[in-house]
Amino acid sequence: MFTKQSLATLLGGLSLALAQTSSQEYPPLAEILAKQASVQPYSPVSNVKGLAFNRFVNIWLENTDFDVAASNSHLAALASQGLLLKNFWAVTHPSEPNYCASAGGDTFGMDNDDFHQLPANISTIADLFDTKNIAWGEYQEAIPYPGYQGYRYPESGANDYVRKHNPLILYDSVTSDAVRLRQIKNFTTFYDDLAHHRLPQYMFITPNMTNDGHDTDITVSGAWTYDFLTSLLENEYFTNDTLIMLTFDETDTYTIGNNVFTFLLGGALPDTLRGTTDDTFYTHYSVIASLSANWGLPSLGRWDCGANLFSWLAEKTGYVNYEVDTSNLFMNETHWGPLSEDDYSEYYAGWPVPVTEGECSAGNDVLDKVKQTWGSLTATFNYTAPFPYDSRSGNNVGVKYSRTLKDGKVEEGVSE
Ligand SMILES: *[C@@H]1O[C@H](CO)[C@@H](O)[C@H](O)[C@H]1NC(C)=O
Ligand SMILES: *[C@@H]1O[C@H](CO)[C@@H](O)[C@H](O)[C@H]1NC(C)=O
Ligand SMILES: *[C@@H]1O[C@H](CO)[C@@H](O)[C@H](O)[C@H]1NC(C)=O
Ligand SMILES: *[C@@H]1O[C@H](CO)[C@@H](O)[C@H](O)[C@H]1NC(C)=O
Ligand SMILES: *[C@@H]1O[C@H](CO)[C@@H](O)[C@H](O)[C@H]1NC(C)=O
Ligand SMILES: *[C@@H]1O[C@H](CO)[C@@H](O)[C@H](O)[C@H]1NC(C)=O
Repeated sequence: MFTKQSLATLLGGLSLALAQTSSQEYPPLAEILAKQASVQPYSPVSNVKGLAFNRFVNIWLENTDFDVAASNSHLAALASQGLLLKNFWAVTHPSEPNYCASAGGDTFGMDNDDFHQLPANISTIADLFDTKNIAWGEYQEAIPYPGYQGYRYPESGANDYVRKHNPLILYDSVTSDAVRLRQIKNFTTFYDDLAHHRLPQYMFITPNMTNDGHDTDITVSGAWTYDFLTSLLENEYFTNDTLIMLTFDETDTYTIGNNVFTFLLGGALPDTLRGTTDDTFYTHYSVIASLSANWGLPSLGRWDCGANLFSWLAEKTGYVNYEVDTSNLFMNETHWGPLSEDDYSEYYAGWPVPVTEGECSAGNDVLDKVKQTWGSLTATFNYTAPFPYDSRSGNNVGVKYSRTLKDGKVEEGVSE
């Protein structure tokens, strides 16, 4: 097995020359075709044992209210074999800030689906995984070549691949690295990696704009999911010690609570939890926190820091999750920040500063690089809270949360 470093050295000049952050929204077609012929996907493998799972598969569908998804027969059939997370929340609207949040632990004020590039001093889950050489990858249906950075592909006509649904491509700390770019691959490579037993331990899967329901509806996305997962669930290599999560980026209706239909499946799900439901409060940030707790990784020091952990994982680590009174919670808008268009959030030029000291739910320290970059500054938000809120603009404020610690002590708070 090649380590990431040795392979990068081996391929040396060629891949490095090709890799750079590109600010071209619509690169010339000739350039796309040339790169399609020359850029090779990279599929590192690793086997770092986790507390509750050895592989995590994160699959996102689009824009559906909880009740609509729950009444889809294909999704209901899959959920009934797994654990239904009834209280799982997307973090804002529209799509892109939710995908952004899944990788960087923050929305950075984003309230739109524009062409964004997060500066290189913002860390992501890729940095967390790299601390233990845990192989990661993304599978983006119809991305024309690994690491393509354009706004969409094809560049005109019906929607197929779109950048706004690709979490890691938004970050310069990923796109400035030749090797990392090549870990952002298409579905052809997914099946290739599956066949050759070189799937990563973390993967994010984005179906195209038809299959994920964005340009269609739940009938199409439910059927796609059922077809996609049915054969994979029978594949021993795929499911063994694997936790599969199916969720939605956001609800379709903006004025209701952003509670999205979500379930867990796969060989790593304890048998006792199959066919049951879980009322624990989770957000997209809970995934990052759970990945950290599972593999003993640091925190990004952003909204992942205070997020609840998957319930049975929390039991293993001893962390006590918060209960959140969601009767007054919407999570349908973003706090202020530099990526705001003043649509639903307030534009403010400064990049939010993460928290760099104190305890995070995953039980580990904040990533060294985050501490080095931001450690001299005061955290912008209360990132140790179990959900994002912003007292300046009043976003998600007035929400009560509490937990009863093992010694019987009750901790209560209200976002304000
Ligand atoms: C997927 O990526 C592979 C490897 O880069 C490439 O050869 C292939 O043409 C791509 N397939 C599609 C459908 O874009
Ligand atoms: C989306 O992918 C499917 C195959 O999974 C393909 O049949 C369909 O044409 C694609 N949609 C678009 C609009 O390209
Ligand atoms: C499944 O995982 C276990 C433990 O990680 C391993 O011993 C076993 O060989 C795996 N089975 C397959 C078919 O990969
Ligand atoms: C969020 O929900 C509240 C309550 O329904 C509503 O007043 C507000 O307009 C919603 N925000 C967006 C962006 O739709
Ligand atoms: C992070 O990068 C941005 C954009 O280059 C810059 O404005 C900001 O000052 C940097 N922050 C820190 C703490 O280095
Ligand atoms: C931040 O959140 C924590 C709980 O997660 C809470 O204990 C603390 O009081 C909050 N801090 C402020 C300044 O609101």
